[in-house]
Amino acid sequence: MAIRFNKSGEPIKMASKRGNLRNFKVEPNPTLDVYNNLAKSYDKRNQMMEFVLSKGRSIFSVIKGDVLEVGAGTGINLKYYNAEAKIIALDWSNEMVSQAQFKVKKYNLDNIKEIIVGDIQKLSDYFDPESFDYVTSSCVFCSVPNPISGLKEVSKVLKPSGKLIQIEHGLSTIKPINMCLKFFDPYTYKRLGFHLNRNHIRNLENSGFEVTYQHNIDPTGIFRLLISKKSFKYEI
Ligand SMILES: C[S@@+](CC[C@H](N)C(=O)[O-])C[C@H]1O[C@@H](n2cnc3c(N)ncnc32)[C@H](O)[C@@H]1O
Repeated sequence: MAIRFNKSGEPIKMASKRGNLRNFKVEPNPTLDVYNNLAKSYDKRNQMMEFVLSKGRSIFSVIKGDVLEVGAGTGINLKYYNAEAKIIALDWSNEMVSQAQFKVKKYNLDNIKEIIVGDIQKLSDYFDPESFDYVTSSCVFCSVPNPISGLKEVSKVLKPSGKLIQIEHGLSTIKPINMCLKFFDPYTYKRLGFHLNRNHIRNLENSGFEVTYQHNIDPTGIFRLLISKKSFKYEI
């Protein structure tokens, strides 16, 4: 479904076949432009990567309850979710959201309740505190401009017992590989919108999360499955 804008450039709230499509105003950003431009060709470009990523995506089939997927992109994860989970998906690119809407119809996914245009760095403007049992993401915090602020927003909308489940690529434990990642980082950021050299574990710890599980999806440890819970160790 294409997203329409009113005369002042505000996205128009529309009713979709699968429930409401809420859209929030997103500030212009160069990374957002990259993803809007890539949206139509994204799945085709990523076919090779799917050999690795699909191994991690199956984790989403076991979770139930209220789930928020952030940075849902073209909706590649949507078909993996458990039929009993209630999913809200969010991405700041309206072009990506259009692709995800198409998949919801194609696979007849009744468990996808809403797809929302919005910025991860502003989740608490859109949702009540402690709304979700799970927040999920795949290959997202490599591209969020301020990952710490995004993760802090995730923490606000997660229930106290909630979990953040991520598939991310970032720095490996193998040093020579990291030199390559750092070398190519400016290129991938400019052309493809993501960084290669992010340290997700450190970012999680600096945002009030405790990583409870990590698993290398590929032998280099670049792609990882990370499960984190809210850390209460600084609370009095
Ligand atoms: C590399 S793509 C991954 C898409 C999808 N999760 C997947 O696994 O194929 C990163 C996605 O994160 C979205 N994204 C990046 N920063 C965001 C932000 N601040 N708010 C919402 N979405 C964001 C991009 O628009 C893009 O769709």
